[in-house]
Amino acid sequence: MKTLSPFNLVIFGGDGDLSFRKLIPALYHAYVEGNLPNGSKIFLTCFSEETFKGFDERLTQSLNKLFQSTQHSEEKLIGFKQLLNPVELDITQNNEAWLNMMSRLKPEQPRLYYLAISPSLIEVTCSHLEAHGGFQGEARIIVEKPIGYDQKTASDINDTLAQYLDESSIYRIDHYLGKETVQNLMALRFSNVIFEHLWDNKTIDHVQITIAETVGLENRASFYDTAGALRDMVQNHLLQLLCLVAMESPAKLNARNIRSEKIKVLEALRPISEAEIDKLSVRGQYVAGQHDGDLVPGYLEELGMADSQTETFVALKAYVDNWRWANVPFYLRTGKRLHEKAATIVIHFKAVSHNVHEQSVGGIQPNQLVIRLQPKESIELTLMTKDLAQSGMQLNPLSLDLNLSDTYKGLSNDAYRRLILDAAAGDPTLFIHRDEVDAAWQWVDPIISAWQQQKVQPELYRAGSSGPSAAQALMQNDGRAWFEETVL
Ligand code: BG6
Repeated sequence: MKTLSPFNLVIFGGDGDLSFRKLIPALYHAYVEGNLPNGSKIFLTCFSEETFKGFDERLTQSLNKLFQSTQHSEEKLIGFKQLLNPVELDITQNNEAWLNMMSRLKPEQPRLYYLAISPSLIEVTCSHLEAHGGFQGEARIIVEKPIGYDQKTASDINDTLAQYLDESSIYRIDHYLGKETVQNLMALRFSNVIFEHLWDNKTIDHVQITIAETVGLENRASFYDTAGALRDMVQNHLLQLLCLVAMESPAKLNARNIRSEKIKVLEALRPISEAEIDKLSVRGQYVAGQHDGDLVPGYLEELGMADSQTETFVALKAYVDNWRWANVPFYLRTGKRLHEKAATIVIHFKAVSHNVHEQSVGGIQPNQLVIRLQPKESIELTLMTKDLAQSGMQLNPLSLDLNLSDTYKGLSNDAYRRLILDAAAGDPTLFIHRDEVDAAWQWVDPIISAWQQQKVQPELYRAGSSGPSAAQALMQNDGRAWFEETVL
C-alpha cells in the first residue's frame, strides 16, 4: 500500500447517526493502527449548539463502548481527539461559521467532503463549498447511499454533484464493497484456476445471496419508512454482490474495468414484470417477537404508527440474461429482525450427471460454495467423500473450510475505514460510478411500481423468525431451499 499523505476531511452531518456509528469509529480504527497520516485534520459539522457542546462527551462514551480492545486506551483517545475539530454549523446558512471552517482547511492537502446528510441538503452544501473555494485543487466528495429514491431522483443528485466536480472526484460509497470478504470474492474468482471454468450455467444450478439482520429500525424510522428493504439494501448492497459474482473477468482490477463489467451485469438483469411480480418477489414486515430470549417490538410499534406498508424484508428471484448465466436463478433475500445476522453468498453447483453408486451408499449432495461475509468471514466448499468411519462404502458431505476470521485474527475488518482511506488516497476502485446507480435503479424501479400497481401487501413475519413463509415457498416451488446457518 502507498503511504498516504495528510488530508483534510470534513464530515457534513458530523453529529449524526452515521458519523457516530460508523465514520468516527472507522477513523479511530485507522488512527490506532497508525494509518491516519500525521498532519491530517477532521472537521465534523454539528447542526446545533446542543450537539456541538455535547460532542466531546458523546464521542468518549461511544468510543469507550465500542472499543474494549487492548489497542484502545485513554492516551490513544486523547491523541485521536486532537485530530478532530467539531464545528457548530448550520450548513444551510452561508455565514461566518462556514467562512471560519473553510479557512482552517489546508489548500495544499487533498480535501474530502463527506456528505453524511439528507439528499435534500446536497445542493446547498455544494454551493456553499463552491462559494468558499472548496473545490479548488485536489477536492473530492464522498457521498452516502441512498443515492436517490428512484432513477429520476438519483439522476438529479448525480447531476447536482456533476455541476461542481468531475465524476472522477465523486466517491459514492457502498460500504459492502469495503468488506474484506467481498474483495476476497474477486481474489477467489480471478486468482484461482479451479473456479473460473465452472463459473457458469453449465455447472452452477443457482446462486443465493442473503443479508439477514437481527436489528430493527435503530432510530432511523423516518428514513426507513420512506425507503423499505428494496431501496435500502437491494438497490445497492445486494446488487453489488450479485455483480461481483456474475461479472466477467476485467482485464485489470482497476476502477474503470470493474465498473464497466458490473454495469454489463446490471444491464443484463431481466426486468421483473407486473405479471410476474407475485411469482418472483416477496415482501414482508415484522411483527413483535423474540430475539435471544428478549421480547422485541414489531415494525409498526417501533415506527409509532398504526399503519405502514413498507417492507422490512424482501426476497427476489432474478436472472442475468447473458450466455454465462442463462437460466441460472439468483435468489436475493434481505430482512430486518431475522433470527440471525448473516451475509452469505452461496453457489450451488449442479448435481453429478450420472450416479455411479448403489442407492445404499446415500444420496449425493451437489457441491456448494459458501462465502460468508459476516459476522465470521469464511469460504467453505462442500464435497462428497467416503465416510471413513464405515467399513463399507457410505457417502458423507465434508467441507474444505477457509476460516478467514481465525487466520487473520485480530485484524479489523472495518469497511468504512478502508473506504475513507481509499478516498483519501484517490483510489476509486471500490466506489460506485453514476452509471451503476442508474442501471441498478432501472431494474429496481419497475419492481416498486409493480408492487404498487398490483397492491402487493407485505406478509407479516414474527421478529426472530426466518422471514415470511412466502420466501420459503419461493424456493420450495423450484424444489430448492434457502441456505440457513441455524435451522429454526
Ligand atoms: C445500511 C442500511 O446501508 O446497511 C441499513 O441502510 C443496514 O439499514 C446496514 O442495517 C447493514 O450494514 P452491515 O454492514 O451492518 O451489514
